[in-house]
Amino acid sequence: MKRLGALILPIAALLSTACGPPDPETLYGDLGCPRCHGTNLEGNRYGPTVKGLSEHWGSPQSMVTYLRDPKPVVENDARLKAQDAEYDLKMQPVTDSSDEDLAVLAAWLLTVE
Ligand code: HEC
Repeated sequence: MKRLGALILPIAALLSTACGPPDPETLYGDLGCPRCHGTNLEGNRYGPTVKGLSEHWGSPQSMVTYLRDPKPVVENDARLKAQDAEYDLKMQPVTDSSDEDLAVLAAWLLTVE
């Protein structure tokens, strides 16, 4: 029994990481966001802080729309437009992630004060 347990536990751990809900902090790192927004969402010379955004974004879905295609959203939003002008690099459309994962990431970002 002992041996069986030693085999089953690591397999169960592997399965739960593969099938469980995505971890937003891992997504944030895997999608390269820290490069321009910092490891702790504090921002850096390439991008603004992404903390305290709940007052600016009505819903995670609106942020997903932005992440998928930032340019049209920036053009229609005076605050984002002004912010955009301060940075040399631009947000690129996020293409290598599912809508579900981006929704989890956006919902998490909106909780960070
Ligand atoms: C190449 C640098 C770069 C990368 C990589 C990047 N961003 Fe940005 N991001 C920016 C810049 C510059 C702005 C400011 C311009 C703007 O508001 O559109 C911005 C703005 C934002 C905003 C709007 C902030 C606000 O004040 O409302 C969010 C949300 C955001 N980024 C999330 C992300 C996420 C999530 C990722 C990873 C999937 C990411 N960014 C990757 C440069 C980047």
